[in-house]
Amino acid sequence: MWLETQRLILREFQQEDLCQLAPILANPQVMKFSPTGILSFQQTRTKINGFIASYKKNGFGKWAVIFKESNRLIGYCGIAVEQIDNVDERELGYRLDPAFWGRGLATEAASIVIQYGFEQLRFPHILGIVERENMASVRVLEKLGMKYKRKTVFHGVKMDVYQVSGES
Ligand SMILES: CC(C)(COP(=O)(O)OP(=O)(O)OC[C@H]1O[C@@H](n2cnc3c(N)ncnc32)[C@H](O)[C@@H]1OP(=O)(O)O)[C@@H](O)C(=O)NCCC(=O)NCCS
Repeated sequence: MWLETQRLILREFQQEDLCQLAPILANPQVMKFSPTGILSFQQTRTKINGFIASYKKNGFGKWAVIFKESNRLIGYCGIAVEQIDNVDERELGYRLDPAFWGRGLATEAASIVIQYGFEQLRFPHILGIVERENMASVRVLEKLGMKYKRKTVFHGVKMDVYQVSGES
């Protein structure tokens, strides 16, 4: 898997990415709306292993986001299988290094991921689940054309479910 946008490359994670991803997922700003809180180096290693397992099992997963200009890994964006209201759904997820926030990069990465999800993976729809207070993420979902569907409780946390369909 290799996707390219104007400013970004999205590719599969490798174990070697650990040193670049670990400081991002150890940042409290990045993990503010995560039920796990900040991740240790070892927890990020396990997370990357989970991403790689998903590529093998599902043919997709969370991908490394590389800022082309500096060839730097700035976070992840991709699609995971998550049980939402007892249904296996395809859920969009993203986290970026705060040094790169506010430049439209999450929207740029997620747009190409959604396009790939519909055109190559043939998903009928893709969900986004977000805490209402996570205004930046809500805004990204809106900019992607996702529509609010319903409330849910995900891993014990009240969340809003957004959805975009392939035909729209
Ligand atoms: C969510 C996240 C990926 C957004 O990254 P980003 O590259 O800054 O996103 P974009 O620049 O594409 O868009 C952000 C939008 O949110 C808006 N925004 C940012 N902070 C905001 C706030 N506190 N209140 C309202 N809007 C806000 C921006 O103005 C922008 O909207 P605009 O283009 O209409 O001006 C980034 O903030 C992040 O990594 N957060 C921590 C991890 C996380 O919460 N992930 C999502 C879990 S559901």
